[in-house]
Amino acid sequence: MSQDIIRAEEVRFSYTTAEGVAPVVLDGVDLKIEEGSFVAVLGHNGSGKSTLAKHMNAILLPTGGAVYVSGMDTADEAHLLDIRRTVGMVFQNPDNQIVANVVEEDVAFAPENLGVPPEEIRRRVDDALKAVGMYEFREHAPHLLSGGQKQRVAIAGVIAMQPRCIVLDEPTAMLDPVGRREVLTTIKNLNRTSGVTVVLITHHMDEAAQADRLVVMARGKVIADGTPKEVFQRVEELKAVGLTVPETTELLWELRQDGLDLPLDALSDEECADALYQLLQ
Ligand SMILES: Nc1ncnc2c1ncn2[C@@H]1O[C@H](COP(=O)(O)OP(=O)(O)O)[C@@H](O)[C@H]1O
Ligand SMILES: [Mg+2]
Repeated sequence: MSQDIIRAEEVRFSYTTAEGVAPVVLDGVDLKIEEGSFVAVLGHNGSGKSTLAKHMNAILLPTGGAVYVSGMDTADEAHLLDIRRTVGMVFQNPDNQIVANVVEEDVAFAPENLGVPPEEIRRRVDDALKAVGMYEFREHAPHLLSGGQKQRVAIAGVIAMQPRCIVLDEPTAMLDPVGRREVLTTIKNLNRTSGVTVVLITHHMDEAAQADRLVVMARGKVIADGTPKEVFQRVEELKAVGLTVPETTELLWELRQDGLDLPLDALSDEECADALYQLLQ
């Protein structure tokens, strides 16, 4: 039986600032993340994605409702360490996540803090660096690496803690196209080969299209949830909340507006080309 590793129930949240309580940022979010799945969360800037991500390992606690990580209430302090071991976080800027001057020392940092025995750390660090394709760089200085390589080292640092779930908050936002591709391939591999649950927050349609499931947020609410094929067909709704759709869907949608008989669910380049070819036949 597959279990939900993260369960958000009616989550509401407002930041408290010096000026008082700010507006509602999460406005009744219900979300279940199934163990082993690869879920993308898409949404316009300010829609509450990062705030939601921080609820997934108790960096933030809900003002209303509740979040459960592997059945543990994040508001229960007794579970904090367990929750942080279960769900690892990767952030946007790799430079802020690198703490050591040698790649392998950087990856060893978190497990060392968890009190993992040295010989076990050696094995975990090697495995984590291999999993992200950075093993041959283990003795390099992190600051000399490319953005994509640094972000992969940051991911290795999280993997070395052996979390069951990794939440990545726009991990490719600061990377060039090569770095973006490297990081996305790494994430997909982790999910496919190690069964690690992945929650990928992104505003890139092409990245979201590669997930098993796509959740769309707008103004602190989940407004769509389904497979990328299902969700991207809701073109008008997505445009209404300031999002675009993948180029394939956009093309098919525009041609349909002109009255052509085309399917809207041909998401990959190949499917889209096939659909156009069939129409031309
Ligand atoms: N630390 C903070 N204090 C006050 N308001 C914040 C803070 N962080 C984010 N916000 C506000 O919360 C809203 C949602 O932000 P965020 O979760 O970062 O959205 P996203 O990641 O989708 O861009 C925005 O209006 C933002 O200005
Ligand atoms: Mg954000």
